[in-house]
Amino acid sequence: MIAQGEYILLKAEGGREYFTSVRDEKLHTDLGIVDLKNIEGLEWGAIVYSHLGKEFKVLKPRTPDFFKHIKRTGAPMMPKDIGTIISYTGVCPDDTILDAGTGSGVLAIYLGTIAKKVITYEANEHFVNVARKNVDKAGLKNIEVRHGNIVEEIKSLEGPFDVVTLDMQEAAKVVHDAKRVLMNGGFLATYSPFFEQTSEIRAAVEREGFNDIITVLINEHELEFGERGTRPSTRVGHTGFLTFARK
Ligand SMILES: C[S@@+](CC[C@H](N)C(=O)[O-])C[C@H]1O[C@@H](n2cnc3c(N)ncnc32)[C@H](O)[C@@H]1O
Repeated sequence: MIAQGEYILLKAEGGREYFTSVRDEKLHTDLGIVDLKNIEGLEWGAIVYSHLGKEFKVLKPRTPDFFKHIKRTGAPMMPKDIGTIISYTGVCPDDTILDAGTGSGVLAIYLGTIAKKVITYEANEHFVNVARKNVDKAGLKNIEVRHGNIVEEIKSLEGPFDVVTLDMQEAAKVVHDAKRVLMNGGFLATYSPFFEQTSEIRAAVEREGFNDIITVLINEHELEFGERGTRPSTRVGHTGFLTFARK
């Protein structure tokens, strides 16, 4: 049963969707007004109607819904890259993970749904506040968003961490201490949109004597189903390069 205060996803005609919560308020949409308090006590999947008689299906949000609907402060990591990090590093429920920069907290939230604990650092105070709200919305209590420059902060961390994830410009400067705080057999995963940063990261992980170093570019190509035929989308999007290195 859906409780007061719970986050919900309302799906309506034409692919419209609304990410909101059950509270004593009315949601104004272009398909009419939905009384959110009437959703309390319903089952997931229930249909509610706006004052215009339009249907809304009430779904329980999952992590990809947070990716689409939470407040963004910058470019969040894309699901294809997040999935690759999780699979290449083998993130599991016993893991304690160190992450930086937090950004909107998208990667940290995905990691937090699997791992025991995620400690994530963000240098920008405003971004920290947004990320904390996003983590709260996701209902995760195992993610600690810390305000600080990871290049400096990591020097006073002991670890051990099972996985360290870095998605920030100066990642190469963190590699030395990332190795120190990683447990033997643990993974460092870095994400960078540029060749130049990736080369710096590669040089740093090689210098530090990491094992099993690999850099990959993950291509995701959506299929378009049109009237003239079916083909891969002609839109080409670049995200970033992922480097994995094992202690
Ligand atoms: C591309 S965003 C990270 C996106 C994030 N992984 C996500 O999925 O939402 C990079 C973030 O790193 C932060 N940042 C840059 N340098 C940093 C540093 N030295 N320490 C901590 N955070 C840093 C930036 O403020 C920015 O928010």
